[in-house]
Amino acid sequence: MRGFITDRSAPRGLRLADNLPEPEPAPDELVIGVRAAGVNRGELALLGQRDQDWRPGQDVAGTVHRAAADGSGPPEGAPVIAIVDGAGWSQRVAVPTQRAAALPPDVSFTDAAALPIAGLTALRGLRRGGSVLARRVLVTAASGAVGQFATQLARAAGAEVIALVSRPESALEARDAGAHDAVTSLDGASRFHLVLDGAGGPVLKAALAHLAPTGLAVTYGGMAGAADFGLGNFLGHTLVGLVHSDPENERGADLAVLAGLVADGRLRPRIGRTENWEKLREVLDDLAGGRFRGKAVLTLAQS
Ligand SMILES: NC(=O)c1ccc[n+]([C@@H]2O[C@H](COP(=O)([O-])OP(=O)(O)OC[C@H]3O[C@@H](n4cnc5c(N)ncnc54)[C@H](OP(=O)(O)O)[C@@H]3O)[C@@H](O)[C@H]2O)c1
Repeated sequence: MRGFITDRSAPRGLRLADNLPEPEPAPDELVIGVRAAGVNRGELALLGQRDQDWRPGQDVAGTVHRAAADGSGPPEGAPVIAIVDGAGWSQRVAVPTQRAAALPPDVSFTDAAALPIAGLTALRGLRRGGSVLARRVLVTAASGAVGQFATQLARAAGAEVIALVSRPESALEARDAGAHDAVTSLDGASRFHLVLDGAGGPVLKAALAHLAPTGLAVTYGGMAGAADFGLGNFLGHTLVGLVHSDPENERGADLAVLAGLVADGRLRPRIGRTENWEKLREVLDDLAGGRFRGKAVLTLAQS
């Protein structure tokens, strides 16, 4: 079986190996024949941190190659989406059925593979804010993989969505994703019920200053660097850190929610780069260099 493994002697520390062992699923795991896989910014960092021969890749979509032995999850041949801890950039990967969801017929593998980490982060961040109907929601890093989902989901939930972008050219993309307004500065901005923040640092600090008295800021990323603020910056407000995997045992259910929203047209993954998986290293270079915005997805031929 083919799949990527870390190799310190290879360019970007990665090699596409030809002789990997087939997955050995536990009773509650199905095996996916991977047709598309997502690439996330966090994986850039992971690649540098993991040992030799580590198997990267977390967001996958494909068909069930082997159903779970315990009878849970979709049957053989069903199209699915899933999130794994690693080995997703492979032809086949074992996944606990709790982390997988059946894919509606109209959702492509490419769109599905864009969803797991970025979509879960946006969905779960938005939920922390409770009802956002007719309330102001600020989305930072709005043209990013997570930000574009957060913008669309907040809009679909009835919020008045303001996108805070780091460069003027991102404003158009944020509006296209459904933001009512897109700004490069919060100077003079009215207060927000909820902040969904992928920037951190000075961006988060400025956003906190514009929270409504009972407002909530959910921060999940650090594109703008380290934060330099203290109690006085969020006195009276709530600031929470979010990781996409929490709650762990509801990931499959939430992937089903995201795939359903794509199927009925309420969510449109913005994919900035789609490539055959053999071009993974170029995709990683372009992601690191900020040469596209939105999600990156790798495609694999059926094997
Ligand atoms: N906690 C979690 O579970 C979790 C999950 C996914 C991602 N993350 C983290 O969240 C962050 C965003 O991830 P992503 O996948 O959306 O990344 P991405 O697709 O690369 O998007 C990054 C976006 O950040 C904005 N940005 C870039 N440089 C900036 C700067 N100096 N100051 C402010 N904004 C800047 C840009 O949007 P604009 O031009 O619109 O500002 C850019 O499109 C990363 O730090 C990532 O590691 C965390």
